[in-house]
Amino acid sequence: MEELIAKAREVINNAYAPYSNFKVAAVVKTKSGKVYTGVNIENASYGLTVCAERVAVFKAVSEGDRDIDTVVVYTDTDEPTPPCGACRQVIAEFNPNALIVMAGRKKTVTAKLSELLPSAFTKERLR
Ligand code: THU
Repeated sequence: MEELIAKAREVINNAYAPYSNFKVAAVVKTKSGKVYTGVNIENASYGLTVCAERVAVFKAVSEGDRDIDTVVVYTDTDEPTPPCGACRQVIAEFNPNALIVMAGRKKTVTAKLSELLPSAFTKERLR
């Protein structure tokens, strides 16, 4: 896990967050063992901002690698940052049981996505 958190620390300064000044890095590990990084990307039209987690998930999926195993969310804050609701839903699309690792400077907390997003709306509900 430390390796994935270290990867997030490596990329966090690529975050484009001139409006909130709140930089976030994410790392997605897939079942194949491959790793994809992401950072938050803000926009002058604030609502178009994309979170770090979704950038990392979309990078993996766009490479044809959908089997998400673990998502690390890293912030340079003492307390860890939990993924926002939209990102929880996007991760649930690919693995409702993904392991979510929330890491801050002083503390790391892990949870299953199913604990963070119980009763997720998933493709099974469309049948
Ligand atoms: N943000 C993330 O990238 N991930 C999260 O889990 C929480 C929020 C970003 C969005 C925005 O650029 C900034 O943090 C402040 O909300």
